[in-house]
Amino acid sequence: MKVGVVGLGAMGAGIAQLCVESGVDTVGREVTAELGERARERIGHFLTRKVEKGQIESFDLSLLTTTTELADLADCDVVIEAIVEELEPKRELFSELERICRPDAVLATNTSALSVTEIAAATQSPQRVVGMHFFNPAPLMPLVEVVRAELTSDDAFEQAYRLAETMGKHPIRCHDTPGFVVNRILLPLLNDCVRVLDEARVSVDDLDAGMKHGAGWPMGPCELIDLVGIDVHVHASEALYDKLREPRMAPPPRLVAMANAGLLGRKSGRGFYTY
Ligand code: CAA
Repeated sequence: MKVGVVGLGAMGAGIAQLCVESGVDTVGREVTAELGERARERIGHFLTRKVEKGQIESFDLSLLTTTTELADLADCDVVIEAIVEELEPKRELFSELERICRPDAVLATNTSALSVTEIAAATQSPQRVVGMHFFNPAPLMPLVEVVRAELTSDDAFEQAYRLAETMGKHPIRCHDTPGFVVNRILLPLLNDCVRVLDEARVSVDDLDAGMKHGAGWPMGPCELIDLVGIDVHVHASEALYDKLREPRMAPPPRLVAMANAGLLGRKSGRGFYTY
């Protein structure tokens, strides 16, 4: 089994880490060698910590090769795409992957809010395109939504499901509808939380404490939006709102303003909190 991961940002690096942890041969593609090296260091860091904490005995980072050439994914059994969350770049990538990869290779997208069917439609072989939606942080969150697009074959779908199991995940099966299962529920809920900040004149700390201690959330909504990335959350909310037109799905103006000001959460050092 050989897995390709295209895009080694936070999600792609997490996915590549899971592959390495599962003993799977992995090729990670980034646009520059420096970005590939940075991802490799990040993966090495998290896996070393797991060894130090006794969670795993050892790991073999040589299972991961990084490249800037898509052509190096030619012999992969499954390719998972985790590039920028925009439709056109994803469609272009899938049409290129179709040319490069073996005809029986499964092509998976980690999109969280775009249509897998629209991505698949950029290829001549949409039956092998499937969604594998990991949650942030991918190495820690057990869920993978395995998403069946309109023309996905049973074979491709089951291969993606089995790969998620091999990676130690808890996969669930669903169809290609806006937001799939979790984001369809979670995005409007998080947007409600942000609106309540202003409506109830509650502080960020108290809102987070409220949801942690009153609803059993592992982290508060503001902490979570900071973790996901305020820009990513706004973008996903807009995509969901575009498709379903429910007012709760539209990103609250407060979040849009934060994104425009460069307050993107943990990754920029400042969001609801300062890091
Ligand atoms: N990769 C690998 N390891 C990571 C990591 C990453 N990206 N991020 C953190 N870790 C490591 C930490 O460094 C830490 O190790 P150290 O001992 O070296 O510090 C270890 O994992 C455990 O971290 P924590 O102590 O912070 O773990 P925790 O028990 O507090 O749990 C959590 C952290 C799993 C994130 C938990 O707070 C949680 O479940 N939060 C909710 C997250 C959530 O809801 N995610 C979904 C977001 S929505 C989404 O993703 C959808 C979308 O499409 C946008």
